[in-house]
Amino acid sequence: MSEPADWYELARYYDVLFSWDPQREVDFVLGASARYGRGRPGRSFEPFCGAGRLLPHVPGAVGSDLSQAMLEIARGRGPVFRADAARLGLAPESFDLAYCLIDSFRHLQREAQAQSHLCAVARALRPGGVYVLGFDVESGRAPAEAQEAWSMKRGGLEVAAEIDVLPGPPGAEAEVMRVRLRVDDNGRRSSLESRQPLRIWTPQAVRGLVAHSGLELVACFDRRYDLEAPRALETVPGSAVLVLRRANVPG
Ligand SMILES: C[S@@+](CC[C@H](N)C(=O)[O-])C[C@H]1O[C@@H](n2cnc3c(N)ncnc32)[C@H](O)[C@@H]1O
Repeated sequence: MSEPADWYELARYYDVLFSWDPQREVDFVLGASARYGRGRPGRSFEPFCGAGRLLPHVPGAVGSDLSQAMLEIARGRGPVFRADAARLGLAPESFDLAYCLIDSFRHLQREAQAQSHLCAVARALRPGGVYVLGFDVESGRAPAEAQEAWSMKRGGLEVAAEIDVLPGPPGAEAEVMRVRLRVDDNGRRSSLESRQPLRIWTPQAVRGLVAHSGLELVACFDRRYDLEAPRALETVPGSAVLVLRRANVPG
């Protein structure tokens, strides 16, 4: 029997599970800034930074997240602050680069929240700066990608995860991410299950959001993080990584 849990509050387990080598993601984010944005950033912003796994690797990075448990770990990796990504109060034109990977943006359930997020990031970017934003677009379209299982170990803590996606309530523009964790914490074993709604975005809806954000879509990739392989948003099977550039006059 699994115990119900919120895996973001189990930040130590989350942190071990996502403790793979981040170099490919970091190279991609910095490469996108070099190719499409302002080059090597002086200051960078990571909303939904979680436990801050990427913060030490990106120049001048500042993170934000809603979960205190995540922030407690992230604080050891870089400057962070607590904020709802739907209500970011950021100083205008204060960052050269923003980035957010791993499907975090879909936690914003309502269109107005997603719009507010993109507009706030647009305003906080200096002209020509990019927001590298990875999330699943129409994830139901790629069922093979919607199921993932892996495990990671650090010292005496081993965490195995199975993640899949269940349909949301009828008529809702959401699906439910189900995360099942099996944990061996120095000999103490537990099974936990976390369920969270994620907004479903079609490519057309994404284009509509971006059109009213003060950002423009300059390139799109899949989660292989290959800058030499851009693709049209409509052809990406699930996990898309958008490069959004601040237009000169934010909307
Ligand atoms: C998938 S995890 C973070 C992944 C992180 N971007 C990475 O690359 O490792 C998603 C994070 O979003 C945070 N989150 C969820 N809803 C949020 C909201 N409305 N505002 C800010 N953070 C939120 C959670 O606390 C969690 O840390």
